[in-house]
Amino acid sequence: MANEENESISIIKTPEEMLKASEEFYQYMSLRRSCRQFSMDPIPDDVIENVIRTAGTAPSGANKQPWLFCVVKNRELKHKIRKAAEAEEKKNYEERFNANLKHDLEPLKTDPVKKFLDIAPILIIVFKEKYTKIGDKIYPNYYVGESASIAVGFLMTALHNAGLATLCYTPSPMDFLNDLLDRPKSESPIAILPVGYPGKDYSCPKLPRKPLEEIIKYYV
Ligand SMILES: Cc1cc2nc3c(=O)[nH]c(=O)nc-3n(C[C@H](O)[C@H](O)[C@H](O)COP(=O)(O)O)c2cc1C
Repeated sequence: MANEENESISIIKTPEEMLKASEEFYQYMSLRRSCRQFSMDPIPDDVIENVIRTAGTAPSGANKQPWLFCVVKNRELKHKIRKAAEAEEKKNYEERFNANLKHDLEPLKTDPVKKFLDIAPILIIVFKEKYTKIGDKIYPNYYVGESASIAVGFLMTALHNAGLATLCYTPSPMDFLNDLLDRPKSESPIAILPVGYPGKDYSCPKLPRKPLEEIIKYYV
């Protein structure tokens, strides 16, 4: 029961309404695709703030909310990020990626060139906060990777819902982002999300999704 310290959870749907809502949401989410080519058209700041507010509603270990969303619009900074990411990607594709990974990446037709880091009007760079340091004192966070990754899922869902395209881009290693964005050692970048409208005529590779029977197992 709600009182001054508690809040109630409002479940407002009948089973019929749930079925309709879940079907419609599935249909809409099934249209989400990773976008690797963007137009330069700007995105309203209010939209970006709303999707980041949504990401901030994610659950987190002991409610530590161990995440930070850096919104990069500055062209020179985007370009520096591209150059640093491409330097790592060149080594990845030429030296670090093994045959299995190269084989698995083949259908995606990706390469070390990451033009979208220059072109997308906004890059959202997500950091996980491993711990919080106040003065000399260190306060731990819990399930940091899990919590921040769930927040990225919320963020990508909110972007799709807003009608924007994105990509969960993870150059590896990506600690160059700490230097470029002046973030402390307590934080680690987990993804770069270029955000915008898909480029004119952009089409992404057709990829199969596992059918329900392969991803569900009942215990009744
Ligand atoms: C954790 C994670 C890391 C990813 N890293 C990259 C990446 O570095 N580069 C890239 O082009 N796509 C990356 N992707 C996107 C996947 O390739 C993509 O989600 C997958 O191929 C399925 O395609 P879809 O998102 O269009 O359904 C990543 C996705 C996830 C979830």
